[in-house]
Amino acid sequence: MAESSTVPLPTAAAVRLSGWLTHLGVSPLAFDDTLSLINPLLTVHRLNARIVGRQVETGTATTLVLQAGPAFKGLQPGQFVIVGVTINGVRHRRAYSPRAVEGHPNRIAITVQRQPGGVVSNHLNEHTRVGQFLEIEQAAGSFTLPSPLPAEVLLIAGGSGITPCMAMLEHLQRHFPRTKATLVYFARSRDDRIFAKALDKLAASWTGFQYRAIDSVANTQTDDSGRPSAADAGRAQQVLSADLLNQLVPNWTKVPAYCCGPTPLMDAARAIWQEAAFGNWKDGAAIKARLHLEAFTPPKPSGDPHARHEVKLTHHAVDKAFEAAGDQTILVASESAGQGLKHGCRQGICHECTCRLHSGSVRNLLSGERIDGEGQTIQVCVSVPMSDVHIESMA
Ligand SMILES: Cc1cc2nc3c(=O)[nH]c(=O)nc-3n(C[C@H](O)[C@H](O)[C@H](O)COP(=O)(O)OP(=O)(O)OC[C@H]3O[C@@H](n4cnc5c(N)ncnc54)[C@H](O)[C@@H]3O)c2cc1C
Ligand code: FES
Repeated sequence: MAESSTVPLPTAAAVRLSGWLTHLGVSPLAFDDTLSLINPLLTVHRLNARIVGRQVETGTATTLVLQAGPAFKGLQPGQFVIVGVTINGVRHRRAYSPRAVEGHPNRIAITVQRQPGGVVSNHLNEHTRVGQFLEIEQAAGSFTLPSPLPAEVLLIAGGSGITPCMAMLEHLQRHFPRTKATLVYFARSRDDRIFAKALDKLAASWTGFQYRAIDSVANTQTDDSGRPSAADAGRAQQVLSADLLNQLVPNWTKVPAYCCGPTPLMDAARAIWQEAAFGNWKDGAAIKARLHLEAFTPPKPSGDPHARHEVKLTHHAVDKAFEAAGDQTILVASESAGQGLKHGCRQGICHECTCRLHSGSVRNLLSGERIDGEGQTIQVCVSVPMSDVHIESMA
């Protein structure tokens, strides 16, 4: 697939027609609903994609190949797409990092790793079939390769964090094979390694590609004590380290680096780059800026689980209220109360969950910052209340 595309003429005409009809009182969604009766891929406001392929990757991960309509604007490798599904009458939205499918316009492949107890990841793995439609949104996100492309890049992945890295690698091999790329990929075992065969093939056919697959549980999710789970006792525990990077990419501090994976892996990368930056007063800021991180899960709130705060929510001039525990984000608390707020990535990236704070204080989990004062905007997916709060939905 072309990795970015201009809006085709029929789509531009449909958007214009929808604009005229809006003036006559027809809502854009009603316009889409009508188009959808003819063909769900023709919609221009709320996009759909048909599942045209399905492939089991590992015991816990499946790839879905999605054919989007002409209104899909394409993607840069590394970006994410929000996928919407309705399960038991409740609409859920989650981010997935697709790869472009070569030779098929507007076709993308998402690979979904099941999460224990995960609502959407298990649904997509178990209940999706070829021919079904999923809602999708335009690609977004800044975990993308720099422009102009550097001569060399370093990618570090753990578990399902391989998905944006694979999108970048395929793009480089197809279009810029002279770029040198190194991938360090941590997984619990070869059986758990998503794209294991495809990566072996890539390494065999692309001379600029250096691939180090590491079987290790050290950088995977841990139990609440911070240690690998009992089931992992006795398994290899090699960690990401500056020594490993020195071996593989001796000039790693000068190369743009992309890391995506579980929290322990990302923390290790952050610490390694910070130390390198600290030891180099001249180039320190530039070294830090060369590391790009993409998290699939937000940091865990560490507040008091017994504390209870009232969240008053104003939406379209209607007030509702629900309780949030001190260790819950406002988004999760709203969902537990059956009053789910509009959201996208659940990760502080897309800003779709932005609300206005009228009173009270919250802590932003990404920055650690306390936010209070009337009129401030907050992202409820990464905001934990520190007192009773009054927020207004901006959706
Ligand atoms: C920018 C971005 C890109 C993403 N790309 C991909 C992708 O390409 N492939 C993919 O499989 N996932 C990807 N994700 C994660 C995805 O959006 C969902 O979070 C994931 O599928 C779990 O959703 P769920 O509804 O199954 O779990 P939920 O019902 O939301 O959560 C269930 C439980 O699982 C935990 N959990 C959720 N996600 C994870 C995780 N990733 N690791 C460990 N624990 C988790 C939660 O803390 C919770 O306890 C991406 C996330 C972001 C923000
Ligand atoms: S849902 Fe994307 S920033 Fe909150």
